[in-house]
Amino acid sequence: MSLAHIYLRGDQPRARWKRHDTAQILKRFFFCERSLIVSASAWIPHIQDLDVKLAIPYFCWQNAETANDLRERVFELRFPSRLMEHEGADRPLAALLNQIRKAPTVGAFLAGWGSVALTALRDAYHEFLEHADPLADAPTYRFLELSLREKEQQITKLAAWAAQELAADQINRSRGETWLNEFGQALARLGGIGTDEAPPEVEVSPIPGSQPVLIPDRPARDRRYWSCRFYWPDIIDSDFPYGEGLLLQLRSAVSHLNEVWAVEHGGIILSEFADILPWEWIRDAARWTYDESRHCQMGRNRLSAWGFDPSEVPLGSYIYESANGVEPIYRLGMLYFFETKNIGRKPERTAVFKEIGDAASEHDMDFDWADETIHATYGNRWLRALHELSAEKYPPADKVREKCELLVTKMIASASPAEKSALVARASSMIQRANELARA
Ligand SMILES: [Fe+2]
Ligand SMILES: [Fe+2]
Repeated sequence: MSLAHIYLRGDQPRARWKRHDTAQILKRFFFCERSLIVSASAWIPHIQDLDVKLAIPYFCWQNAETANDLRERVFELRFPSRLMEHEGADRPLAALLNQIRKAPTVGAFLAGWGSVALTALRDAYHEFLEHADPLADAPTYRFLELSLREKEQQITKLAAWAAQELAADQINRSRGETWLNEFGQALARLGGIGTDEAPPEVEVSPIPGSQPVLIPDRPARDRRYWSCRFYWPDIIDSDFPYGEGLLLQLRSAVSHLNEVWAVEHGGIILSEFADILPWEWIRDAARWTYDESRHCQMGRNRLSAWGFDPSEVPLGSYIYESANGVEPIYRLGMLYFFETKNIGRKPERTAVFKEIGDAASEHDMDFDWADETIHATYGNRWLRALHELSAEKYPPADKVREKCELLVTKMIASASPAEKSALVARASSMIQRANELARA
């Protein structure tokens, strides 16, 4: 008997997807993640609730790390090709997910992002991990299993916030829900986020009731805080001391909290330059924005641990508003120059906090310093990259810096006497309260 046509069976389930099939699926996941990161980041200045505002960069950073791992894995699987600049057959899916940028209300955005888009992505990751091969494709399992857990948490949080927002905004509730329903149906028409199947080749039409999210002139501010433009008197009054000892503890915590503008600028520039700069920009900007959100939270935590109620604490907007009406490159410039300006002073202040026994301020300042050294690299790299792209459209870094300083100086000069006296009164009562809290 001839054995020439008799073979051992190889139809094991783990052999379902070969190297190129896997790369194709992971590439789809990458573009879905990318669309959602870029679109969600554009919402940051529109979010009032500080918990939600600071969570968006956190989720976007987690997802940007996943997206980066997906991208690197695709390169490994397709070696030596490193071509990954276009969505290809997955364009309808990426285009549809971009639509969360046009949700008509904050509630619709949060629900569209979490309960529709991230849920579909979570289900797709789950399906992939069920059918792929943990042996041959082990590197993918490591980061996708982590991402699956992160997505679960993101979806739960976003669902709670979305319900809260939709309930609070009764006037627009049905508008938001109608849009959400249409968005869900549009995704279902594409077959959700698939593994084996690419979406059908269709032109994605805008979701009825959409409204593009623009860069607002005034960023949304959490009503629990004392809302203002300038958040400490020394900004507009050079006679008011930055302070030492207890004053420095207070000023530093209020400054950290007020890095909220940096979070907003980070979100705006991430999305504004997403289609101009390469993927690495989105990844860096996601980390940058997340870092600033942690700095903001550090200040918030210190103030609340000392016993301050948010209503006592000024939450300003002057740097954000200084960039109104100018090109987004100046928001990048402000984030870079103003945030790294005090980098040299930070170790000095860390030492002062250590000396007075304020371990929390010392600790936060110490970690902040490490983040800022990374941000200095980001600022340099991306201002240079933009200038190299178009010297005409994007001025060199020194010119960007000059204009940023000019814009902020002009904003400071616009402070009214009433604004100044209200701010001095606010700061003075905080200082008095700090004295009481320190003695208690
Ligand atoms: Fe910062
Ligand atoms: Fe920074």
